[in-house]
Amino acid sequence: MAETTTVPEWRVTLADNTIGEEEIEAVTEVLRSRWLSPGRRTRAFELEFAEALGCSDAVAVSSGTAALHLAVRALGIGPGDEVILPSLSFVASAAMVVLHGGTPIFADIRSETDPTIDPAEVRRLITGRTKAIVAMHYGGYPADLVALADLADEYGLALIEDAAHAPVVRAAGAMLGTVGDIGCFSFFATKNITTGEGGMVVARDPAILDRIRAARSHCLTASTWDRSRSGSAEYDVTDVGLNYRPTEIGSAIGRIQLAKLTHDRRCRRALTAEYRRRLAAIPGLVVPFAHYDGDSALHLMAVLIPEGLDREELRTRLRRSGIQTSVHYRPTHQFTLYREKFGPAGGLLPVTEAVGDRLLTLPLHARMSQEDVALVSAGLSEAVIGLSGRAGS
Ligand SMILES: Cc1ncc(COP(=O)(O)O)c(C=O)c1O
Repeated sequence: MAETTTVPEWRVTLADNTIGEEEIEAVTEVLRSRWLSPGRRTRAFELEFAEALGCSDAVAVSSGTAALHLAVRALGIGPGDEVILPSLSFVASAAMVVLHGGTPIFADIRSETDPTIDPAEVRRLITGRTKAIVAMHYGGYPADLVALADLADEYGLALIEDAAHAPVVRAAGAMLGTVGDIGCFSFFATKNITTGEGGMVVARDPAILDRIRAARSHCLTASTWDRSRSGSAEYDVTDVGLNYRPTEIGSAIGRIQLAKLTHDRRCRRALTAEYRRRLAAIPGLVVPFAHYDGDSALHLMAVLIPEGLDREELRTRLRRSGIQTSVHYRPTHQFTLYREKFGPAGGLLPVTEAVGDRLLTLPLHARMSQEDVALVSAGLSEAVIGLSGRAGS
């Protein structure tokens, strides 16, 4: 019986992807071939992704979290090691540090308008135990990699780029993900490139990338694909590894998604420009990166609602108008586990906390129209004005 699960009914959904007939045909072809584990399509996807980033190789994995886990593992982060990272991020990077016995040290962000990790705060938090820094390119906008790479060099630290939001973005003369020692990407269903679930890792040192490739599949010296081609049943195991292999189905989708990225970005650019124009008229609303005109994946349309407004009430009003919203992110250090076990060493994170309370993510994806942007902006304006009147009364 055919399953008919589709995207839920909203007038404007928060996120969507560009999956179409091309991906459906590619998946059908993989299924017809009956070769489903990593094979020639996965290898082609890796090389095409690497080429797009201007590097020589990449390793496809089963998720962005897997990419981060392999990065933390490859750098040998373990008990006693501290890793400085933004609290205003998805929990995956902090969780992978904790999983390996390391200690996440949360650094504050720069400002309301640039909510990426603040290099001055990173410098303040460096101790003799610091092993690595994680830069996260919030919403597809670059963190200050020049300053962070300088800090990493000065103190002999590793730099991991969590580029989950930022595939194929050039900033300060380099592709995001390729400046740090290791770059990690996610192909989750709402990302600019999706494979359903998936991820990619790049590394500056080919030896590190080799270690990551091996660890992706239990450090076996020959994959199922290698063995099928050579006819040999032999392999050795050189270290403890994991199964973070992508599927050939996902890789076939990813190759087409990568080719569609230029179109996706063009749509996001036009929609973001329209949002910026319309949202500028809403009193008290702050639009991060509103004046940024460099390259960006434009993954999120995050805003800061006016101070003192009830965000959940605002979201309820927008939901009633069929507008889906979200929050990227609730600061990691405020979640129970991190609050209780890893409270920020140097006190609170004032900017992160102030911004975290006001963040609201509006719909942004390539299937939206300018009319959708007008509808969301008008809905938000009405809700803000309505609630401001109430807050002031
Ligand atoms: C900033 C960030 N890092 C890491 C991840 C983890 O990626 P995945 O969901 O593919 O495991 C995500 C995705 O949700 C993310 O947004």
